[in-house]
Amino acid sequence: MPFKTRITEMLGIEHPIVQGGMQGVGYAELAAAVSNAGELGILTALTQPSPAALSAEIERCRAMSDKPFGLNLTVFPTINAPDNNAYSQAIIGGGIKIVETAGAPAVREIWEMLKPHGVTIPYKCTAVRHALSAERAGCDIISINGSNARAIRGRMISPA
Ligand SMILES: Cc1cc2nc3c(=O)[nH]c(=O)nc-3n(C[C@H](O)[C@H](O)[C@H](O)COP(=O)(O)O)c2cc1C
Repeated sequence: MPFKTRITEMLGIEHPIVQGGMQGVGYAELAAAVSNAGELGILTALTQPSPAALSAEIERCRAMSDKPFGLNLTVFPTINAPDNNAYSQAIIGGGIKIVETAGAPAVREIWEMLKPHGVTIPYKCTAVRHALSAERAGCDIISINGSNARAIRGRMISPA
């Protein structure tokens, strides 16, 4: 049974349930199945080996679902960082309007790229102070996770 909350209205979904981005798991089959059930399915950008592969995966997901689905883009603090700008361009080019973000403070650069394209940005973190900092920095939705959440443990956005 569909019902309305602020989240269902912001994300255009029937039930206030959002699938977490999962690297290595967030393929089109999963995201489309979740979205077809009336929730928000999420592809994981870095599951794809290149921005071009991500563009193809977005198209594959769209062929499986005409419901809204989102992307997860996580900024891992690593020396050999992927080209997050190119992944962001693939997301914009694919017409994605919801991008769950997580990770290091550099995630703000991604928000700045996405927001002018009308993208709604949930930010996933594990501490209230990081949530407040992210809110001040302009993200649209906060997802608070337990500190056991893989890939997002530890310091996210430094408090201003
Ligand atoms: C296999 C696996 C891969 C994950 N990869 C990511 C990721 O790349 N980026 C991210 O933001 N969260 C990632 N997560 C975290 C989940 O999206 C979610 O936030 C976390 O599992 C907490 O939700 P839960 O308590 O329902 O498991 C991953 C989780 C799992 C289990």
